[in-house]
Amino acid sequence: MIWSNELTQRLGIEYPIIQAPMFGVTTPEMVTAATKVGCLGSLPLGDLPPEKCIEVIRATKKLSSRPFAVNIFVNEIPEVTDQLKTRYAEAKQFIQNLAQQQGLTVDLPDFEKISVNRYQEHVDAIISENCKVVSFTFGNLDEESIQKLKSNGTTLIGTCTSVREAQILESSGIDIICVQGFEAGGHRGSFEPGYLPKISGLSLLSQVYDAVKVPLIYAGGIYHAKTLLASRTLGAQGFQVGSLLLGSAESALADFEKERLRRVKESDIVLTRSFSGRYARGIRNVFIDAVENTEHILPYPYQRLLTNELRKVAKAQGNVDFLSIWLGQSITDYSGQSTSEILQNLITETEKESGN
Ligand SMILES: Cc1cc2nc3c(=O)[nH]c(=O)nc-3n(C[C@H](O)[C@H](O)[C@H](O)COP(=O)(O)O)c2cc1C
Repeated sequence: MIWSNELTQRLGIEYPIIQAPMFGVTTPEMVTAATKVGCLGSLPLGDLPPEKCIEVIRATKKLSSRPFAVNIFVNEIPEVTDQLKTRYAEAKQFIQNLAQQQGLTVDLPDFEKISVNRYQEHVDAIISENCKVVSFTFGNLDEESIQKLKSNGTTLIGTCTSVREAQILESSGIDIICVQGFEAGGHRGSFEPGYLPKISGLSLLSQVYDAVKVPLIYAGGIYHAKTLLASRTLGAQGFQVGSLLLGSAESALADFEKERLRRVKESDIVLTRSFSGRYARGIRNVFIDAVENTEHILPYPYQRLLTNELRKVAKAQGNVDFLSIWLGQSITDYSGQSTSEILQNLITETEKESGN
C-alpha cells in the first residue's frame, strides 16, 4: 500500500492518518504518541482561554518535535439579549434542581460570571506560537483570520458535514477539507444556519469528492482497516480517527468513563444538544433524557458554559449520569493500549488488508 500522497507531502507526515482532535480527551501525550508513529496528531484548543492555549501548545512542543495540528472552534456567538439572560437563569435553576433530585449538588455560574472567548483570540495565540497546521470546526474562518494564518505559512483544514459546506470552505481558500460523517463521535461540525445534515459518511464523502478539488480527510466510523480502505476508495486521502482512541493510555477520560465506554450498546448512542446547545453524539444518560426535549437548551456556547461546572462535579464524583461521554457509532473494544500501538496496528492491518 502506498501511503504517500498530497497530504503526507503537505503535512510532512509518513502516514495520512490523523488522530482526531477531541477536546476534553486529547492530551499533549496523545498528540505526541500519534506523531511518534508518523501520523498527524491534533491538539484541540476548544474554548480554552488564549493564555491556556499557549500553555498546552508549548507543553506539546516540549514532548514532540514532529508536526501536529492545533484545532479550534469557529462558531458564531449569538447576541446577548434580555431574553437570553432570562432563559439562562431558568435553565440554570432547572438543571440544578434536576441534579439535586439525583443527589448531586452543584452551583452553576450566573450569566454575568461566564466568559465567552472569540476564536480570533485563538488565531492570534496560534500565530504567536507559530503553529503551521490549523484545523477547525463549527464554521468557517473569517477572511481576515484566513489571511493572517496564510501569511504565516499555515495549512488550513476546515470541517464540513454537507456538500454545500465543503464548497463554502473551498471557495474561501481552505487548503484541506475534513468530511465529517453522521456516524462520527462528538459534536457535528455543521454550520449551515438552521440545517443539521444527517448524511451518512460514505454518501457524503463521495459527493464531496465530486464537488470540490482540494484534498479530503474522512472522519466518522473508521475503526479498522476495512473502514479506512472504504473511505480511501471513495476519494479520501486522509483518515481521521477519534473514538478508536477514547480508551487509550493517553486519553484524559477517567477510568470509570472508560469502563462505561466498554459496556456501551448500540441503543445507548444518541445525538443530543442538551450539554452544549450543538448536536453531539455520545452516551445517553439521565441528564440527556431529562433535558433533551425541554426549552432549557440555550444556543451554543451558552449551554456549554452553563453545564461546564456540572460536568466537572460529575466527573470528580464518578457520576456517569451528568457528564458527556462522546463517541461515534462504530463500537469497538476501546483498547487501553497506547495511542502509538493502536495507530501502528491500524497501519499494519491496513497494509495486510490491501495486500502489501
Ligand atoms: C470525545 C470527542 C471529542 C471531540 N472533540 C472535537 C474537537 O475538539 N474538535 C473537532 O474538530 N472535532 C472533535 N471531535 C470530532 C472528531 O474530530 C472526529 O470528527 C470524530 O471523532 C470522527 O468519528 P469517530 O469518532 O467515529 O472516529 C470529537 C470527537 C469525540 C469522540
